[in-house]
Amino acid sequence: MPRTVYEFPSADAVATGLRDLVLRAQDEALSKHDRFTVALSGGSLPNTLAKGLLAKPEGFRWDRWHVFYADERCVPLDHPESNHRLAQTELLSKVPIPSSQVYTLNPALVEKPAEAAEDYQKQLMTVFATKSTVRFPVFDLILLGMGPDGHTCSLFPNHALLEESEQWVGYLTDSPKPPPTRITLTLPVVNHAHMVVFVTTGANKKDTLVQILDRKEPLPAAQVNPIHGQLYWFLDEPAASGLQTT
Ligand code: 6PG
Repeated sequence: MPRTVYEFPSADAVATGLRDLVLRAQDEALSKHDRFTVALSGGSLPNTLAKGLLAKPEGFRWDRWHVFYADERCVPLDHPESNHRLAQTELLSKVPIPSSQVYTLNPALVEKPAEAAEDYQKQLMTVFATKSTVRFPVFDLILLGMGPDGHTCSLFPNHALLEESEQWVGYLTDSPKPPPTRITLTLPVVNHAHMVVFVTTGANKKDTLVQILDRKEPLPAAQVNPIHGQLYWFLDEPAASGLQTT
């Protein structure tokens, strides 16, 4: 499916635009089924998302949201490096999503990443059915960030996890971005989503965006191409400033 690239004048405008798209994704999902499944990334995404959603929360059906993490660091859930803690602090503690519908890393498995990945896959199965009935889960919405090296989720350049074609959730113990031990959704899961949105702001992403969007270099973020879904890039002006076309 073709991608759509939006350039906004500022990071605040990105947040406002993102709010409208998330509402659309939610409404589309609820017109087809009774829940809205969304995967959140770490980094700057929870803050941008919260800024947009909390500024105008009307229309959101929080009781229908099922929230997963696109990737998670293998640390306790109250650790400063935890993506869940970040999402909780920025957004989830401020909206009435039932806590049973927020799917976290199993805190008992922080020292056992292979088991933590398997456990997270099982949590996905409770919502999306089993691997014997569906090949890959279909998220209504996956919200991604992109690192300056072109990584997304915890899928880093030249890492063997990029080749994963079976599992829904992978793990790594050698992440170049600390902390080193993480679990992550795999590329086939991301590429089966109904809608995927990259939210990328700041001048330090400018050159990588040229590599991905103009030069089509095969960095991890460039391997996100939903098979049947829509792909959006939400950029602010500093991030988009090197691009030929947006
Ligand atoms: C993580 C993230 C990671 C992040 C990017 C972009 O847990 O490390 O999920 O993939 O989204 O590194 O981060 P920024 O938005 O902070 O640049």
